[in-house]
Amino acid sequence: RYDAEPFVPSRAGLKKLREAAAGCRGCPLHEPATQTVFGAGSTDARVVLVGEQPGDQEDRRGEPFVGPAGRLLDKALAEAGIDPGEAYVTNAVKHFKYEQTPERGKRRIHKPPSLREMTACRPWLAAELALVKPELIVALGATAGKALLGPSFRVSRQRGQLLPFPGLGGERARERNEPGTRGEGAAGPDALVATVHPSAALRARDREAVYRGLVADLRVAAEALG
Ligand code: URA
Ligand code: SF4
Repeated sequence: RYDAEPFVPSRAGLKKLREAAAGCRGCPLHEPATQTVFGAGSTDARVVLVGEQPGDQEDRRGEPFVGPAGRLLDKALAEAGIDPGEAYVTNAVKHFKYEQTPERGKRRIHKPPSLREMTACRPWLAAELALVKPELIVALGATAGKALLGPSFRVSRQRGQLLPFPGLGGERARERNEPGTRGEGAAGPDALVATVHPSAALRARDREAVYRGLVADLRVAAEALG
């Protein structure tokens, strides 16, 4: 069975968590990938942005959203009035899944993670959320939405609204959720805004319209943060 849970240390801070994630073997995606790309940002962040999985450049550099999609995301965040520096940024799946075909030469083509891989990796996301305890989560695209809200999530139907977030929970996640760092017993996020993945605005036929939609949804998140 694919599962990251046995690799997730209890009562660990972000640094310990990141170190442990570097050795995760919870699913086969670690094999062809260069390294684990864990989340980045402060435990004081008010908002957690969740993408799908690292891309080619993220896989090489070990940091989330440092490639083309990340640059577009930063631009959209700035336009919506969210300071990227105040966000904790991570992905639903921590290893780059790709395909390399002879016709494409050396290029590694992104492949979407399966439900099994996404479910296997979720304990890392749960641990990050339990530590950061953001006021709001932003799900970037369908994979993030499904990882956070379940497989019935549909980005087209649920984007751009303030949705209740029931939490990823799990006893172990709660046990790691040590009180005191951000207000006694802070319960963690209970609100989520979903939008499209920024890479959709790089690939779509009507890029400008997709980008406008992304910014509009992020404005809903900005308003919720106040
Ligand atoms: N796309 C994602 O979903 N995450 C990244 O970190 C980069 C691109
Ligand atoms: Fe572990 Fe997630 Fe990487 Fe799979 S994708 S090996 S569960 S960190």
